[in-house]
Amino acid sequence: MKANPRIDAEWLHGRLEDLARVGATAGGGVTRLALSDEDRVGRDLLRDWMEEAGLAVRVDDLGNMTGRREGRERIAPVLLGSHIDSVRRGGRFDGPLGVLGALAAVRALDAAGIETRHPIEVVNWTNEEGVRFEPAMLASGVVGGRFDRAYAYDRADRDGVRFEDELRRIGYLGREEDRPESAAAYLELHVEQGPVLEDAGVPVGVVEGIVGITWLNVTVEGQADHAGPSPMRLRRDALVAASRLVAAVDRLARETDEIAVGTVGRLVPEPNLINTVPGRVVMSADFRHPDPATLDGMVERFRAQAEQLSAETGVSVTVDRFWTSEATPFDVGVVGEIAAACEELGLPQHRLWSGAGHDAKYVADRGPAGMIFVRSRGGLSHCEEEFSEPADIEAGANVLLLAALRLAD
Ligand code: GLV
Ligand code: MN
Ligand code: MN
Repeated sequence: MKANPRIDAEWLHGRLEDLARVGATAGGGVTRLALSDEDRVGRDLLRDWMEEAGLAVRVDDLGNMTGRREGRERIAPVLLGSHIDSVRRGGRFDGPLGVLGALAAVRALDAAGIETRHPIEVVNWTNEEGVRFEPAMLASGVVGGRFDRAYAYDRADRDGVRFEDELRRIGYLGREEDRPESAAAYLELHVEQGPVLEDAGVPVGVVEGIVGITWLNVTVEGQADHAGPSPMRLRRDALVAASRLVAAVDRLARETDEIAVGTVGRLVPEPNLINTVPGRVVMSADFRHPDPATLDGMVERFRAQAEQLSAETGVSVTVDRFWTSEATPFDVGVVGEIAAACEELGLPQHRLWSGAGHDAKYVADRGPAGMIFVRSRGGLSHCEEEFSEPADIEAGANVLLLAALRLAD
């Protein structure tokens, strides 16, 4: 038995490249929306790679894919995973790194002839991004007990296509008894998607928790009208009102503190025609903060501003806060093992919080979990420019491997 198992970096980079070709965009990113044809092709590849690594693959009733490596004992597994769905024109590593990094870790254990006490399971969670089927982390949320399966099945995309129907269409509707088991520990390797590690000059980070996230659906109702004969004083233009709400989201976050963020990322004016005053706008708002009271405070102030706008302009505004993912500190023991793995590799132990949501949140609601971050160039993600250096990816995957080994043995 080799003393020091290490990731086969060439294999990992090669498979990341292969997956990045599925749904590749002209700008060097990927569009592989959950349960799309591209997602199916990616899943088929992943299944092949899992089987090639000797894992027993199963698919559950949410489409989550799990590959199992047996341990010496029949006890709770150590789960390693992330997602392979992407946002539209997103990056190539957001998600796949955690799944393929996990597979690379299992392969490294095999290559070193290492058996572990706990089984190890590699998981690909369905619809982490929540851009096709809102909200995010939908399938890990069902497994974690946050959402009913019926709620997930009925989520529909912009064309009204249901989650369950797409799961069946792409051939990934499995059985409830094939869900990932309750884990002894869960580890997720991911690109940082922010500027902290780059600013600190550190390749890999030890994640201490995930900030609170809340999503609102905002509907602005005015009156559609002809762009010519309708005088300005008589208008109830929904888009003009919505533009003030967009600015309010941005201002509220800036006024809160240095770490609060607020984003309007989706906005649809109707009827969206050149010569018609917009009668209706449907838009999103996304607020994030590690402190629950501060997060709630931003939402309340947004509601108050929406009411005031409504009184001033005669448009009506409804605000539906349809999803909140509470701030989640990770398990101290798991975080400690990740830090120890960094030390073993001679890497600094830089601790930070995640501003992005991850499936680790819903897994952490049920058991010990932790995450490892890899430095992102320019802190960019959810865009085609997302990039992490191959050497940083390799370092992160080796931290995952050694942390998994510590937890599984
Ligand atoms: C998922 O990527 C999120 O943080 O919205
Ligand atoms: Mn992700
Ligand atoms: Mn993402």
